[in-house]
Amino acid sequence: MSEQDFLRDFPLLNNKTNSIAYLDNGATTQKPESVIQAICGYYGGCNANPHRGAYALSVKATDIYENARAKTAKFINAKRPEEIIFTKNATEALNLVAYSYGLANVGQGDEIVITISEHHSNLVPWQHVAKAKGATLKYIYLEEDGNLSQEDIAAKITERTKIVAVTQVSNVLGLKNDVKSIVQKAHSVGAAVVVDGSQSVAHMKVDVQDLDADFFAFSGHKMLSPMGIGVLYGKYEILDKMSPFLFGGDMIEYVEEQSTTYAELPSKFEAGTQNVGGAAGLSAAIDYLEKIGFDRIEAIEKDLVDYALPKLREMPFIELYGCDSKRANKTGIITFNVKDVHPHDVASILDSQGVAVRAGHHCAQPLMKYLRQNATCRASFYLYNTREDVDRWLEALTKVRRVMHLE
Ligand code: ALA
Repeated sequence: MSEQDFLRDFPLLNNKTNSIAYLDNGATTQKPESVIQAICGYYGGCNANPHRGAYALSVKATDIYENARAKTAKFINAKRPEEIIFTKNATEALNLVAYSYGLANVGQGDEIVITISEHHSNLVPWQHVAKAKGATLKYIYLEEDGNLSQEDIAAKITERTKIVAVTQVSNVLGLKNDVKSIVQKAHSVGAAVVVDGSQSVAHMKVDVQDLDADFFAFSGHKMLSPMGIGVLYGKYEILDKMSPFLFGGDMIEYVEEQSTTYAELPSKFEAGTQNVGGAAGLSAAIDYLEKIGFDRIEAIEKDLVDYALPKLREMPFIELYGCDSKRANKTGIITFNVKDVHPHDVASILDSQGVAVRAGHHCAQPLMKYLRQNATCRASFYLYNTREDVDRWLEALTKVRRVMHLE
C-alpha cells in the first residue's frame, strides 16, 4: 500500500475539491473510515451503559469496552489488562499519577526530576505536587543539539529523587529520549518513572515491559482515535496501592453512609460512565496501526523528514530547531521559524495556501524560553502525508516573506 492508498482511508483528507496538506499531527491525527465506522457502529447498534445493566445491550457495551482494554494492553505489551486505565486524555492520565501517586509518595525535602522539554501536561502537575509537599522540582536541560544532557541526567537524579517524569518524544523538537536508560538510573535510586507517550505511541512500537517505566500515559486522538479517550498504563502492584483520583459511580465496592470501599483495578480509577464509543474507536485505531506496522510508519515519516530537511536548509530565511541531532533520534516533527515573521503570520499564510501547521508555544513555555523563542511553527508528519504535501509546504514557505513585504 502506498501513502496515497492510506490517504483514501481518511475521509477528511481524501477530498479532491478541498484538499489540504495536513501537517499538524502532533496536535491531533485525522481518523480513518474504520475508526469512524467503529464509533458510529457503537452508537448506532450497541449503545448502553456498561458494567451496570443485566440486559444484553449493556453486556455488549461492556464487552466492547473491556475488549478495547485488552487490545490496548497487548498493543503496548502490558502484563495484564487491569494495568490499563481509560482516561479522558494524556493530561488526565498524568494528573491521575500526580494526585494519586505524587501527593502520597513525595514529602518535604524530596525531589521531583523532569526535563525542560516537557509539555505543560507533564510539568504543571509536578509543580503542583512539589509546591503542595514542600519538594523541589529539578530540570534536566539539553545539549546543543536538543537532546537531553547526559551530564544532567547523571547529576540531577539522586537519592532524594522520588519521581522522574519524562516525555518519550518532545512535541516541539521531535527528539526521542532514551527513556529506558533514564528508568534504569531512576530505579537505581528508588524513584518512580512517569513517561508521557503522547508523541511516541502512534509513531513507534512501545513496549512498556521493556521500558520498565512505572507509568506511561497517552491520548487516543493523537493515534487515529476519537478525542476524549486516553490511557494510563501503570504497573499493577503500584496502581493497586494507590488511592482513587476521582470518586463516584462504578469505582466502588460498598458504600456506607460514612465510608466506602473501592473496586478492584481498573474500575477503581474509572469513576462515572465510561467512554465506550471512544474505546471502540481506539480499538479500531489499534487494528489499523497494527495492519500497517510501525516499521512502515517510521519509514514514511523518516522519508518525509529526509526529503524536507535538505530543502529547508537551502532556504536562508528558515531557522530550524532540534534538527542537528543524530538522525536516529529524530521523529517526524520539524520545528521552524521564518526570519522576521511572527509564527502566527507564517501559519496564516501557509493556511491560505492549504497547508496546516501549528504555531505558538506548543504548550511548552519553559522549553520556548530555554530556546530563547517566544513561539515557533511546527510541521508534524504522519503515515498519510506524502512528498507532495512537503512540496506544497515548502512552496508556500517561499511566499511568506513576500506577503509580509520583506522582499
Ligand atoms: N499536545 C498537542 C501538541 O503538541 C496539542 O500540539
